Amino acid sequence: MTRALFGFLLSLMIVSTGPVAHAQTESETPEWRIVIHGGAGVITRDKLTDEQEAAYNAALEVSLKAGSDVLREGGSAVDAVQAAVLTMEDDALFNSGHGAVMTAAHEHELDASIMDGKNRDAGSVAGVKHVKNPILAARAVMDQSEHVMFAGQGADDFAESVGLETVENSYFTTERRKKALERVLDTQSREDADRHGTVGAVALDKDGNIAAATTTGGMTAKAPGRIGDSPLIGAATYAQNDVCAVSATGHGEYFIRVGVAKTICTRVELAGDSIAGAAENALGQVAELGGDGGVIVMGGDGQYAYVFNTAGMYRGMSDSTGAMETAIFEAED
Ligand code: GLY
Repeated sequence: MTRALFGFLLSLMIVSTGPVAHAQTESETPEWRIVIHGGAGVITRDKLTDEQEAAYNAALEVSLKAGSDVLREGGSAVDAVQAAVLTMEDDALFNSGHGAVMTAAHEHELDASIMDGKNRDAGSVAGVKHVKNPILAARAVMDQSEHVMFAGQGADDFAESVGLETVENSYFTTERRKKALERVLDTQSREDADRHGTVGAVALDKDGNIAAATTTGGMTAKAPGRIGDSPLIGAATYAQNDVCAVSATGHGEYFIRVGVAKTICTRVELAGDSIAGAAENALGQVAELGGDGGVIVMGGDGQYAYVFNTAGMYRGMSDSTGAMETAIFEAED
């Protein structure tokens, strides 16, 4: 059986067996590859206008191009995931930097993490309010400190001390998120979109290294100080060469309790699961606890999967073969 046929049969099997997985796998080994997500949720055609759909696809392409430019030039996987996440942090469509959701205290508290599969170095920040690009702060924690994680004011102070741009908290605010906060505070209930929109990337570089990165604003009207899964290595982000790289999006409380990203990589490494099968297992555990969301996963060989138990996930892939795809709804795979 050819590898391509095996991959095709595998994807059919995954779609038909699980209550949670909508997976796509591809078995060619590219020289380099990047896969991204911009959040998962009840994203159905009736919820987006044609213009909004086009805007999301365009924004995903900008992110893929930023990561691909790094990888094409021989840059590292960790630089590529950082570059891809950076463009989404700057785009108000996504719940990460500018355009992030607001806390119940009418502020923004952002979380981010990054991991280099080559040496399993990692960095993260939680609850930052002033560093313009949280993923750069996470990277600086990894590269320029002896620690893995900084939180709150100390994280913002650290980011400023290494020369990163800081902004007023209001820089992150948009009318859309203000209205969402007012609605949640008025109704005391969150819609699906209020809990989703995290961004992330996984990549394979020409040297065979893989990496992962994730950034979020969390959930609308979250309690000040609440931290989700996105800054937690092993929950939303994990990367280990020759095993897998994962970035997750979803209801953080459940992803933390399952340890989604590390669970996936451990199943791949020790149980011999496919990357899609391992992701399906982890998301099945999330669903059992009552949560939802999705992951992008890259194997050590560049094979990739999108797996989500929601109606849609903003996602995309580009690689050294010239392939570039973006998708939003469940049925596009
Ligand atoms: N997954 C993002 C959060 O729950 O904060």
